[in-house]
Amino acid sequence: MNVHPKYPGFLPGFLRTGWSVGRKINKLIPQLLTEQQIQQLKAVEGHTTLEQCATLFYLAYTNTKTAGSIVEIGSFKGKSTCWMAKALQIAGANEKIAAVDPHINTRDHHVVPDYKEESSYDAFLNNLKNCGIDQYVEPIKKTSQDAAENWNQPIKLLFIDGSHLYDDVMLDLKLWEPRLMQGGIVVMHDTKPFGPRIAVRRAMDDYIVKSKRFKEMLQLANMACFVKTKSA
Ligand SMILES: C[S@@+](CC[C@H](N)C(=O)[O-])C[C@H]1O[C@@H](n2cnc3c(N)ncnc32)[C@H](O)[C@@H]1O
Repeated sequence: MNVHPKYPGFLPGFLRTGWSVGRKINKLIPQLLTEQQIQQLKAVEGHTTLEQCATLFYLAYTNTKTAGSIVEIGSFKGKSTCWMAKALQIAGANEKIAAVDPHINTRDHHVVPDYKEESSYDAFLNNLKNCGIDQYVEPIKKTSQDAAENWNQPIKLLFIDGSHLYDDVMLDLKLWEPRLMQGGIVVMHDTKPFGPRIAVRRAMDDYIVKSKRFKEMLQLANMACFVKTKSA
């Protein structure tokens, strides 16, 4: 295995399931990203960890030849967005990530992270620019519900990290999962089976796991990835 000198254990310490995918992620990241690029992406303020971002990078990169869109629900200041967009840039892909977020600071900590400004939008746009990947992102400054009304393209990769209230997560899944192609991947953030974000785990179990239409691909300490094997 090609081990990055600075990040020797990129994923294994955090993996619950999906070791073979984890090994591929560990190998790919140091081959594709320079230390300087990793540092730049790491410096973006946000709520996704290095191993989660590495996983999103891997999923975006390895699916550039697959038809369909990448949709992110909940971008905040763009950390996860920047990692996925960097993957598209490095792959030379001709596509954009649809980054859905109203960017409104409601000050409800189940809905938005704690931050000072009234909106995360300016920081989001600046971070895309600073990472040199703004041309790989289509910002959709709307709630997931409003954005879903006008969405009519099949999705290959769906990352859900919006409101963490149970009903909202269920709604995100009900609105967007039917548009996920068979063979497409849904990634849920904040899936720890305990603690203040337990609602996301419950929604994931109720919608994804119980349906038996998905195969678990990889589970990190606080993020889970599933492949859709059947439509409803
Ligand atoms: C935990 S943050 C996302 C973190 C981000 N993925 C990162 O890498 O830092 C959750 C985001 O979801 C957004 N959000 C809340 N409700 C939403 C909704 N109904 N539709 C879309 N986004 C929503 C918030 O504005 C907030 O920016």
